[in-house]
Amino acid sequence: MLGVIGGSGLYRLEGFELLEEIYPETPFGYPSAPIRVGLLDGKKVAFLARHGLKHEYPPHRVPYRANLWAFYKLGVKRVLGVFAVGGINPLLRPGEFGVLKDFIEFTKSRPSTYYEGKFSVKVEGEGRAEKLLREGKVVHVDLTEPYCPETSRVLEEALSKLGLSYRSGVVYACTEGPRFETPAEIRFLKLAGADVVGMTGYPEVVLARELELCYAALCVVANPAAGLAGYRLTSDEVISMMKEREEQIKRVVGEVARLLPAERACSCGRALEGAVV
Ligand code: HPA
Repeated sequence: MLGVIGGSGLYRLEGFELLEEIYPETPFGYPSAPIRVGLLDGKKVAFLARHGLKHEYPPHRVPYRANLWAFYKLGVKRVLGVFAVGGINPLLRPGEFGVLKDFIEFTKSRPSTYYEGKFSVKVEGEGRAEKLLREGKVVHVDLTEPYCPETSRVLEEALSKLGLSYRSGVVYACTEGPRFETPAEIRFLKLAGADVVGMTGYPEVVLARELELCYAALCVVANPAAGLAGYRLTSDEVISMMKEREEQIKRVVGEVARLLPAERACSCGRALEGAVV
């Protein structure tokens, strides 16, 4: 099953036949919102609002571990994260779609791994992750390809099929937030090789890998990053761009669900092999 995590402005995925709504307690707390499982174009999709249904979780307090764990226990194998971002690379103008290829992170306070060695939460269950947690193992996952190549390719195919222009190979910088960046920080991120900037792309991508889930990310440029536009940034601008793109995003999600092959041909499902100390 495909799991979708919607960002700012994307709190519901209408137009699908709702099968169930679940709000499971996980060893890492509750997810940010009830998860809606439904059929989209005949395919089962689970949808979760990253910031909560009323946007009550700021980027640094999103329960990322609970969100991904809830998907994992539901049987989600592939995750599509949707993000609003600020554009740093001038080729990525407001309204543009991007498919992420790599990331750099500058976060400070968020738990970003399940595997905390002797401090790991002891959980029940027979999955590989559950066993490693019970054994108190230390795990270093490989991020040579942080985003699942197969799911990302399908995402690009979906965008193309729908006639939506997009940039591929996008490098995402994750800042801590909740404040926007300064112009000097944006100049620094540009020098570091970032194309776009956001506050929530990390640690979602890594937690998915730690649970051997595929993870691809679709970003929507909501605004030029700080200092590049000549005017001040507002949350209103971000939300209104996401609302403008909402219909298209929903169609992309439906197309991705339809196009994904039943079996995974990537190596995401074996991410823990060789990663355990
Ligand atoms: N910076 C960080 N996060 C964002 C931005 C931005 O400019 N726009 C949308 N999310």
